[in-house]
Amino acid sequence: MNAAAAPNTALERYYQFHSRIYDSTRWSFLFGREEVLRRAARVVSPRRVLEVGCGTGRNLPGLRKCFPSAHLTGVDLSEQMLAIAAKKVRNDKTTLLHRSYSAPVHTGQTRFDLVLFSYALSMFNPGWEQAIDAAWEDLEDGGCIAVVDFSHSHFAWFRRWMGVNHVRMEKHLWPRLRRKFAPLLDERFTAYAGLWSYGIFIGRKQPVI
Ligand SMILES: C[S@@+](CC[C@H](N)C(=O)[O-])C[C@H]1O[C@@H](n2cnc3c(N)ncnc32)[C@H](O)[C@@H]1O
Repeated sequence: MNAAAAPNTALERYYQFHSRIYDSTRWSFLFGREEVLRRAARVVSPRRVLEVGCGTGRNLPGLRKCFPSAHLTGVDLSEQMLAIAAKKVRNDKTTLLHRSYSAPVHTGQTRFDLVLFSYALSMFNPGWEQAIDAAWEDLEDGGCIAVVDFSHSHFAWFRRWMGVNHVRMEKHLWPRLRRKFAPLLDERFTAYAGLWSYGIFIGRKQPVI
């Protein structure tokens, strides 16, 4: 793991505890994580994949299965989450970066063909716009962004509760994603009989002419 100095943010403190229970609890509400990989694999055959906010690496084995020969990179703010991810990718062609995704991570001319955000962008508060822009910079022309995330809830008490857990649920991600990338898939789904909605967006970076 490529460790860098990181500020001790509220989010990092949150994951100091939550990293311990993350994999055993999140299956019950982070829906669509398999689906976004299946859908992405239909539209892109990447040589290099970046997962932003890879956390405990829950998606990395799934990415490996979809893209057996790709080089995978995961970036995350939380050292504790990455320590768990590191155990899942031992002996694999995967690089883990410990840093905030407030700027692109590619070096030189080598960019990614697929950038995945799985339940990460809704926690970039502030910074979600910069993260979408950084993903655009990190992608090759013709490369794809794939996002699965919370969208919104009609219940103010639930939005407040999710806010306590650092998640913003105000449908704010999708318009910017649509503006920045040519949409290939842009759908919302309901969870728990409409308590909240989540969304999947897959878009392509168009070359600037
Ligand atoms: C809900 S978890 C998602 C983990 C994984 N992608 C999944 O689907 O299970 C959100 C992750 O985003 C990371 N994160 C939040 N803000 C970040 C930022 N600015 N830069 C990098 N990672 C960030 C958190 O540390 C956390 O591990």
